[in-house]
Formats: sequence, structure tokens, C-alpha cells
Amino acid sequence: MKALEVRNVSYRYPIGKSTVLEDISLTVDRGDFVAVIGRNGSGKTTLCNILRGFIPGFHKGKFQGEVFVEGRNIDEMSMGEIAIKIGFVFQNPFIQVSGVKKTVFNEVAYGLENLGIERDEIIPRVTSILEELKISELADKHPIDLSGGQRQRIALASVLVMDPDILIIDEPTSQLDPQGTEKVFEIIRLLKEKNKTIILVEHKMDLISEYANRVILLDDKRIIFDDKTENVLTNEAVPNHGVNLPQIAKVGLAYEKRTGKKLKRIPTTIDNAVSVFKELLQEEASDGRN
Ligand SMILES: Nc1ncnc2c1ncn2[C@@H]1O[C@H](COP(=O)(O)OP(=O)(O)O)[C@@H](O)[C@H]1O
Ligand SMILES: [Mg+2]
Repeated sequence: MKALEVRNVSYRYPIGKSTVLEDISLTVDRGDFVAVIGRNGSGKTTLCNILRGFIPGFHKGKFQGEVFVEGRNIDEMSMGEIAIKIGFVFQNPFIQVSGVKKTVFNEVAYGLENLGIERDEIIPRVTSILEELKISELADKHPIDLSGGQRQRIALASVLVMDPDILIIDEPTSQLDPQGTEKVFEIIRLLKEKNKTIILVEHKMDLISEYANRVILLDDKRIIFDDKTENVLTNEAVPNHGVNLPQIAKVGLAYEKRTGKKLKRIPTTIDNAVSVFKELLQEEASDGRN
């Protein structure tokens, strides 16, 4: 079952000189975990906005093509219907905070209130999402007193509390130190276990390789690669598009170049690397005996 589909979409912002995306098509299956990568300005955030209907709904400009959410044309869906299906975490967590609520608890409850859900149901849902994200201690704080990293987690909580099937998450760790990043990825791991459909824009390749099953690379207004994670993140052409390969893949590629030997596969995760190099050592040991 398709969760999202984009057909031949092109877009230019109202004040933009040229199109940002040109004739983009892609499909996201239910349960997919798709990472979107690409250099700054390659249109990752724009693509997220298209998938969520903010383009052309909110941002005008020149839009062509079609977007489908679970098979329905997004044009025919109300903003409320889209909001229930798709959770959206903005790149800038300062945008996400409503500005009308005085505590984190009420901030996280805001979306549910807007849906007209009863207070009796809202309280346990907010309480449990704060617990799940390990931010219960922030419940009574004022949203403006939070650090960038805390806001990023509150933004995630506000979206997750709605329990949407599809999540679009735009650079959730941009404000975070490695520890904070790890916490966000724990949340993302949780979402993956719940079999949510996830579109994640992220620069940290080691994290993408660990979680995403598919990678889309944008550059030059187009989709350059759209393939399984292990295929994209071992492709030596990727750095030509302003994106690094995972450190461990670079090690694998460098090994092949320097030794002239082929590895069973180029590793993209630490686990891959351990098994690839273990096998290699065993082969070398048995070659040595013969
Ligand atoms: N609101 C806007 N109005 C005009 N141009 C925009 C707007 N937002 C983004 N752009 C331009 O569109 C291109 C893609 O931006 P964006 O989607 O934010 O890229 P990314 O998220 O990959 O960094 C950039 O050239 C950027 O300057
Ligand atoms: Mg962006």
C-alpha cells in the first residue's frame, strides 16, 4: 500500500527566480523509512512541504503535478484530514511552538485540543508521550524557556501525541549535541518499531545508515538517487552532490582501493563492518594455512 506518491511535481516559489524542483516523482510505501539527503538549498524542505500539502496550500508560486496520500489526491483533502494522517516536524523548532500556551504540557496538548478531543483523553495521552520521550520534567516549563534541543523534542512530542501514520521530520537534530541527537534517534527507533511511515531529512549519515531502508538524494532540482540505503550510501558518486558517505563506507572503499581486493560488501553500519572484516580475517587466516 502506498502511503505517499508524488507524480511529476515541479515547483517555483513566488519570489524565486527559477524552479526549485523539476519533474519529481516518487512513491513511499507504508512502513518505509526514507531518508532525504542533499546539499543545502537542494530542495529537501521544499519536498517535505509538498508532501504535507503546505505547497501549494500555504506557499503559493508555480506548482505542477500531483500528490497522493494513501491513494487520495491531496487536493481533495481538507487541512484537518491531512493533519491527522501526516505529522510534520519543522526544521526550525521555533516555528513549531504555538506561542499561545504557557506550559509544555499544554503546548503538547494543543493539537489534540484543536481536534476537539476531550480533556479526559488528552491528559493521559500527553502524559504518556512525555514519559515515552523522557521529557516529563519539562511539563510545567514555559515553552519560551526551553533550549533549542528541548524545543526540538517538544516539537516531536506535539506531533507524536497525535499518533499519525505518516511522519515527515525535517532535520530534527540540527540544534542538538551528540547526546541530544542520540535521544532523538531513540525516538525515531521507537517510531520505526511502531511501523510508522517515516520521511526524514538528516545530514548525519551514520544515523541514516542505521535506520533508513531507503535514501533519496536531491540535487540540481532532481532526484539523483532513490534506492536502498546500502546502495546509495556506498555509491562513490554521492560526494559529487555535496553529501558525505558514512565514515565506515569510506573505510571500506579505501580498503578496496588500496589493496585491490573486493570486500563481500561495502559496509554502511558498524555491524556490517564487523561481519565483513571478520570474514576477511578468517579468509586471510585460511589462505595463510594453505
Ligand atoms: N519561501 C521561499 N521563497 C523563495 N525561495 C525559497 C523559499 N524557501 C526556500 N527557497 C529556495 O528554494 C531552494 C530550496 O530550498 P530548501 O527546500 O529550503 O532546501 P534544503 O531544505 O535542501 O536546504 C533554495 O534555493 C532556497 O533559497
Ligand atoms: Mg531544509
